[in-house]
Amino acid sequence: MPGAIYAEGLVKTFGDVRAVDGVDLDVPQGTVLGLLGPNGAGKTTVVRCLTTLLTPDSGKLSVAGIDVVKQPNEVRRNIGLSGQFAAVDEYLTGRENLQMVAQLYQMPAKAAKARAGELLDRFHLADAADRPSKTYSGGMRRRLDLAAALVVSPPVMFMDEPTTGLDPRNRQQLWDVIRELVSGGTTLLLTTQYLEEADHLAHDICVIDHGKVIARGTSDQLKAQIGGERVEVVVHERDQIAPAAEVMQALGKGEVKVENHTRRLTVPVTGGAKLLAEVIRDLDARGVEIDDIGLRRPTLDDVFLSLTGHVAELDEGENGNGTEKEAGK
Ligand SMILES: Nc1ncnc2c1ncn2[C@@H]1O[C@H](COP(=O)(O)OP(=O)(O)OP(=O)(O)O)[C@@H](O)[C@H]1O
Ligand SMILES: [Mg+2]
Repeated sequence: MPGAIYAEGLVKTFGDVRAVDGVDLDVPQGTVLGLLGPNGAGKTTVVRCLTTLLTPDSGKLSVAGIDVVKQPNEVRRNIGLSGQFAAVDEYLTGRENLQMVAQLYQMPAKAAKARAGELLDRFHLADAADRPSKTYSGGMRRRLDLAAALVVSPPVMFMDEPTTGLDPRNRQQLWDVIRELVSGGTTLLLTTQYLEEADHLAHDICVIDHGKVIARGTSDQLKAQIGGERVEVVVHERDQIAPAAEVMQALGKGEVKVENHTRRLTVPVTGGAKLLAEVIRDLDARGVEIDDIGLRRPTLDDVFLSLTGHVAELDEGENGNGTEKEAGK
């Protein structure tokens, strides 16, 4: 029997662009699927097809056992969606936005009021509840949008980059909300650029690039797939990146990954502590001053890099302005 979210051979094109090019997904009820992929990979298009906002070119899609193409209205009654771009009515206050959603779902006025109050508290918006949401910061809008998606507790939820633009504290709090939802039986498809987030929340991870699934499994399985340990070095000065990269290339067992802005270099190695000592000795011999050095297990970032050939790009939301810009689109 297909899971609570199911896609088989999903294809969606826009002119010449094959945004989604044959994606299969099967998410068991009560679990979280993390859909990862770089910008333009097709994540939002997958979400929009599954939530009836776009009609796929081909493919079999069902949500909560309901055919998405044949019974879109029925599907809509069973899902909650928090889109990539916060969809709040700017002229209504936070409280009015939530009450309006509750009324759309035919909740009695008293229950709607209570539910709105509860969610405003939960998402730390109580102080701003009675101001028009156009006065909210990007992170506040994002939180209001998430609260709106949770007004009724739908059995299946879709969240497209839910924590983009949230500060670390709010991100943690949203993770708690998500864990609670899922422990109550909700099935969730979540897209994210934050690999750490998928690591924390997702039972299964599906990595897509150019509209195709390039890997899937649990986070441990994906890490095991690229295996091995890594030496990570942070050099003191930018001009020491080049000589450090040469040393690490010579001693490592693969490509040296360089992050210029943090002056961090990483290379896969075999040989553990002994190899680490050699790296330190050779860096010293080249006069490279280091701020930090260590051996570590691969992270999901490494998995991502080795699968897609590039690191996950940071969204504009990273600086907290993303949702603001997007809300104005
Ligand atoms: N309405 C549209 N018309 C034309 N092209 C589109 C449309 N929507 C998406 N695309 C294209 O489809 C591809 C996938 O876009 P999509 O928004 O699904 O990517 P994404 O993985 O969500 O990216 P991001 O991480 O930037 O949100 C991109 O090449 C995009 O330009
Ligand atoms: Mg997107």
